[in-house]
Amino acid sequence: MRVEVQAVAPAEVEAGVVAVLLTAGGLTETGRTLDSTLDGLLSRIAQDGEARSDLGRARLVHAGDRRVVLAGVGETSLVDADALRTTAAAVVGEAGEFVDSIAWPIDDALPLSGEEQAGALVEGTILGAYDPARWKQNGRHTKLEKLILCGDFGLADAAERAARISGWVNRARDLVNSPPNEMSPEQLAARAAEIASELENVESQALGPKEIQKQGMGALAAVAQGSDVEPRLIVLRYEPPEPAHADLVLGLVGKAITFDTGGISLKPSLKMEDMKGDMAGGAAVIEATGAIADLGLPVRVLSVVASCENMPGGHAYRPGDILTAANGKTIEITNTDAEGRLVLADALWYAREHGATHVLDLATLTGAMELALGDLYAGVFGRDDDWREQVIAAGEASGDHAWAFPLHPRYRRYVDSAFADIKNSSDLRQGSPALAAEFLQEFAGEGPWAHADIAGPAFFERSRGDYLHQRGGTGYGVRLIVELASRLSS
Ligand code: BES
Ligand code: MN
Ligand code: ZN
Repeated sequence: MRVEVQAVAPAEVEAGVVAVLLTAGGLTETGRTLDSTLDGLLSRIAQDGEARSDLGRARLVHAGDRRVVLAGVGETSLVDADALRTTAAAVVGEAGEFVDSIAWPIDDALPLSGEEQAGALVEGTILGAYDPARWKQNGRHTKLEKLILCGDFGLADAAERAARISGWVNRARDLVNSPPNEMSPEQLAARAAEIASELENVESQALGPKEIQKQGMGALAAVAQGSDVEPRLIVLRYEPPEPAHADLVLGLVGKAITFDTGGISLKPSLKMEDMKGDMAGGAAVIEATGAIADLGLPVRVLSVVASCENMPGGHAYRPGDILTAANGKTIEITNTDAEGRLVLADALWYAREHGATHVLDLATLTGAMELALGDLYAGVFGRDDDWREQVIAAGEASGDHAWAFPLHPRYRRYVDSAFADIKNSSDLRQGSPALAAEFLQEFAGEGPWAHADIAGPAFFERSRGDYLHQRGGTGYGVRLIVELASRLSS
């Protein structure tokens, strides 16, 4: 999608459709100015209730020889970036099948700066134009090619930046939505290699089964052994020529189980198809690394993604097995469905071993996290309060919502094993997100580390009812990581 900023009035812009905000209080000044050139048609439609001002409602109308979408945005004083993204996506949903370009005025009536508006409108449009039904042969396909922002030329940078980041978010969604028979660990590694070949200062590497064994990564190897599909430990390195902090290496660690059946501790079959989304953490890490390099942010990055399939079968690891992770700790398996923390254990170790100073892992780790927070927020754990708060603040600023959860040494007893250094799950049906975090902490090495359990917001079981939030992968984490990296760039 092309994005342009034009210093032109909405009444004059050349576009397939012009979007006009409809607030709870009616048209804004910008809308009224356009309306006066259309003999008051828009306000009559609004007054008659043919178009509604509720957030996310959009109505296409013909006005003379042009098309207008009245875009509901609710109460003006409550409009934030989230709301504007939702509105922009709703306009794509209403008009994207008919028009190849949408014009959006930047509106002084909103309690958001021009830059914030530009960013949110671009993101909402590009994310809203995403089609998860790539495998449908007669699907709804958007014709949209261009977004025009009517506003100050000075907004071009903000618009361009948002457009690029949104592209990376959508590519993460593609990885997550791809079916597990197509998106194998090998394919995911190929995507990382493609990013490295396209962008400067990025290198990729992928360890296969033999190298994983050789590195002593007994936890990742054990999860992988039940599947005929080979595992990969995918590594991306971004080394900008002039980092803002030469001694800081952002370590991004991702869980990428390309399909999680639960293994011998088999999951129920209902909704198991959604477990193709169990690689969302890894997908976000890979695409966010690409985004950081694409934007040329001056921060060193080491990304490590542990990828394999969790399958039952004659070669599968079992409850009762005792494994040795790369850091030398022994793990008793009590549930083969708690596989994420195992593959992360070895990936965290690898990231530290290769110089990561500030580590953030992203993982669809526990169903209970989704039960607790729904699909809006990720839960973030961290032993370093300051680092955890930086992660959360970056998430909130970027639109990837995040909320703090506790780590506490008293949780450790629930993963104490009678036979090994630690066990991978507790038989208590309590606090499983916190116990998973407690487990990970044993492998996180020295230095700031935070863990984002993204089980809820990474993959939608169903659409939230608007075009911004469609079924399937959301690309959660890409925007958070890019914002975090931006904040580490000065
Ligand atoms: N991938 C799942 C977690 C998950 C469930 C993510 C639903 C998204 C939606 C993870 O591997 C898992 O199975 N976790 C178990 C852990 C338990 C066995 C301690 C869970 O949450 O039930
Ligand atoms: Mn599992
Ligand atoms: Zn899993």
